[in-house]
Amino acid sequence: MVPDSLTLYQYRIEQQLQLTMAAQPQIAGRLHDAMQYSLTNGGKRIRPYLVYSCGSMLGVSLDTLDSAACAIECLHSYSLIHDDLPAMDNDDLRRGKPTCHKAFDEATAILAGDALQALAFDILASAEGELSIQRRLKRVALLAKASGVAGMCAGQAIDLAQTNQHTGLATLEQMHRLKTGALIECAVQLAYYSSELDCPATLEALTAFASALGLAFQVQDDILDIESDTLVLGKPQGSDSKANKLTYPALLGLQEAKNKAHHLYQEALAALARLPYNTAELQAFAHYIIARKF
Ligand code: IPE
Ligand code: IPE
Ligand code: MG
Ligand code: MG
Ligand code: MG
Repeated sequence: MVPDSLTLYQYRIEQQLQLTMAAQPQIAGRLHDAMQYSLTNGGKRIRPYLVYSCGSMLGVSLDTLDSAACAIECLHSYSLIHDDLPAMDNDDLRRGKPTCHKAFDEATAILAGDALQALAFDILASAEGELSIQRRLKRVALLAKASGVAGMCAGQAIDLAQTNQHTGLATLEQMHRLKTGALIECAVQLAYYSSELDCPATLEALTAFASALGLAFQVQDDILDIESDTLVLGKPQGSDSKANKLTYPALLGLQEAKNKAHHLYQEALAALARLPYNTAELQAFAHYIIARKF
């Protein structure tokens, strides 16, 4: 079941993303349209959700969290546009609609991804409010680390290198932790650094929660590639097996992959239990992540 708070924060992030795009200059109309198309065409908004939900739990106002929520969704949206390109996963469908390069063209899709990535950092660097300069800089550095050569891009590179390869569990886990986990961890860390808290134990427990959740999220994504159908999924079912991708079900079998997701869910709950806050909302969200159908 979808937690109520997810619907609430989805509504907020949709508004914020619309405002963000409306504020961007339309110097190159087609580029602007492609960015708008990919950024505002649906999506579960789970990274913004984590920013809002963790931040609220820590006592941060939603106004202060908007910039981090928008920035991480711009970054994610860019990663999906590039992930779908012919040179990467070569997928035609995303969120039930043609992928960016299909709706526009490859060159425009590459540029839309590039510009969304730049926009993410612009949003963080230009955020107004009471947050200290140190914390603002920290948020920029966190997103850069999580998305670059030590994070998402490294994971995507391993994904491409391991396609059609027979490899071990350690590589698979590292790939998943980087390509998907890094941004999910970043979301909760952005929430923490949107506060002025100085509590390493809280940061550590939040990060442990997100680390387990991030891996569970990608394991479930791999499971859905097999078990869901294209209509529900909004992206082509069977894309991983068709491309002979390294995934949890491919390496361990479907049942072991499900066990792994459940085990990670328990690990996420154990990390939440260490936090001196009301974590009911995040507990429900963790369950949603491994029970979701798309
Ligand atoms: C898809 O992410 C790519 C992965 C990291 C598995 P999401 O499942 O969050 O995609 P949207 O944003 O909801 O479409
Ligand atoms: C994509 O993983 C991860 C990133 C975009 C960083 P997948 O290739 O499994 O994502 P989907 O299944 O296309 O959404
Ligand atoms: Mg991929
Ligand atoms: Mg893909
Ligand atoms: Mg996938």
